Amino acid sequence: MERSDFSLENLKDYVERTNLKGKNFTFLTDLNREELLSLFKVAKILEPFSKTGLKLMEGKELISMFFEPSTRTRMSTETAMNKLGGSVVTEANPLETSSAAKDESLWDTLKVISQYADIMVLRHPNSDRVLQDLPASEVPVISGGYGSITHPTQGLLDLYTVWRAKQDIEGLKVLITSPDLSRARSGHSFALALAQLGAEVVYASPKELPTPDNILEQLKKYGIKVSEHFDVTPEEHDELIMASDIVYLPGCRIPKGGEERELYMEHKDNYYVGLEPLRKAKEEQGKVIGVMHSLPRFEGEFDFGIDDTEHELYFKQVANGIPIRMALITCMIGLA
Ligand code: CP
Repeated sequence: MERSDFSLENLKDYVERTNLKGKNFTFLTDLNREELLSLFKVAKILEPFSKTGLKLMEGKELISMFFEPSTRTRMSTETAMNKLGGSVVTEANPLETSSAAKDESLWDTLKVISQYADIMVLRHPNSDRVLQDLPASEVPVISGGYGSITHPTQGLLDLYTVWRAKQDIEGLKVLITSPDLSRARSGHSFALALAQLGAEVVYASPKELPTPDNILEQLKKYGIKVSEHFDVTPEEHDELIMASDIVYLPGCRIPKGGEERELYMEHKDNYYVGLEPLRKAKEEQGKVIGVMHSLPRFEGEFDFGIDDTEHELYFKQVANGIPIRMALITCMIGLA
């Protein structure tokens, strides 16, 4: 790729090639390979402006509606709009402070907000409800995460981070590992994004909490290599880490109680990512395995000493959340 590809003169062309104008962004699979790469090019062009800002979206309004807690997704989407010169209205606690607290339907809420906004970002725990009511919105809606099935902007920033770190994603071996893959919506979105660009996906989880069948079926349609490893021992897990190029931990909320928590706690030590296999792979194979996590993270998931090593990618993911969301907003609203 030529350096000049990433100049502001090419921005409009790449924006149009994403075909995102006026559309919702609900699933990673809404974008094909060409569209995804065009979006990454828009993000790369906008990257220097994620610090300084530029006035691409002056006069445009983003309304941010989060029915579940968020730090990264909400703040980075709002920051992205601010950096683009647009304005933001935030509803971070709609069940307390919006008319949703008076049982206004999601359909009407979306209809009303879309009279004020040019674009919306929504996080909601009930994916079925959202998918049914999204047509009420008259402006494009970015998914900030719907239920346990999809978190596409997380998948986007994850893939963008790998694209920036490794350039070529085809054939890259990515281990997605967790004591619970069944509810790992960021892992699902990331795997689908990887599949678009031809990576190999390796899963490790307990047999009782695997990746849902519908995600596996979608991955297989892309013709990529997918494998599942169940109930691994710590030693087997280290082997899987050393055989990978990237290790991805899809952060998911640790269940507060009941059988799900018991299962999680029973299995968690087997899916721990330590520094030792990373160091060994560097020594023996000369490769630097990147460690990714969608955050928030919890003690006991991985060695936090990775923070200060060349393996750390999770804070780079966080930083990349701004340019990729600036790109998404720009492409969904469109340039004049
Ligand atoms: N990664 C992620 O979705 O973080 P938040 O829940 O803080 O938005």
